[in-house]
Amino acid sequence: MKKALTLLAFGILAACGGAESQNTAIAAAAPDAAAYSEFNTQATIRDVMNALIDINADLLWNSVRAEANETGYHEYQPETDEEWLALRYAAVSIIEGGNALMIPGRRVAPPGSTTEFPLYEYLPDEVQAKLDEDRIAWDGFAQGLQAAAVQLLDAVNNRDVEKLSEYGALLDEACESCHLNYWYRPE
Ligand code: HEC
Repeated sequence: MKKALTLLAFGILAACGGAESQNTAIAAAAPDAAAYSEFNTQATIRDVMNALIDINADLLWNSVRAEANETGYHEYQPETDEEWLALRYAAVSIIEGGNALMIPGRRVAPPGSTTEFPLYEYLPDEVQAKLDEDRIAWDGFAQGLQAAAVQLLDAVNNRDVEKLSEYGALLDEACESCHLNYWYRPE
């Protein structure tokens, strides 16, 4: 509530004064104004991976698959309108997840977090340092993810099963190239 009021005050100041007085007002009111943004970046990058990106990638990857079990060999592909719609939402969520990754000020993981596999994975603080060092490079990887998801969205819109599985591989490359750069320690 307090935050909403402060925001409202900024809005009024911004409306009354020019850009200069707006900046002065923000700087005076909030010492960490440089880090301030209108976006809520409370969820971490780890959260975004789990909530927006990973589950939706799985949905897309599993949509075209073959399975062998006791009843024989089965091939699956999306059939119903509902199944195609769910895939559409999955692709859209990944595209928006990419936007979420590019919003500055989001932490990799809560302070003090660690990893289950410190021999193989960089600690969140190490990832954070690399990310902060070059935001443009980071954004490039997020955009690579979005480019793959856009291709998948096209395939879904066209109900093109072949392209859906082809671009699934592209999506996997987009995940792994970023993970290789920021998350996995070199062998
Ligand atoms: C722009 C870079 C980037 C892209 C693209 C990306 N990731 Fe990640 N991902 C990360 C980083 C950095 C971490 C490590 C965060 C941490 O320390 O927990 C991570 C961690 C994860 C995790 C582990 C989360 C946890 O709870 O520890 C999963 C799962 C994951 N990514 C899945 C994916 C999948 C699936 C894709 C592609 C569809 C993908 N990521 C694309 C950067 C990326």
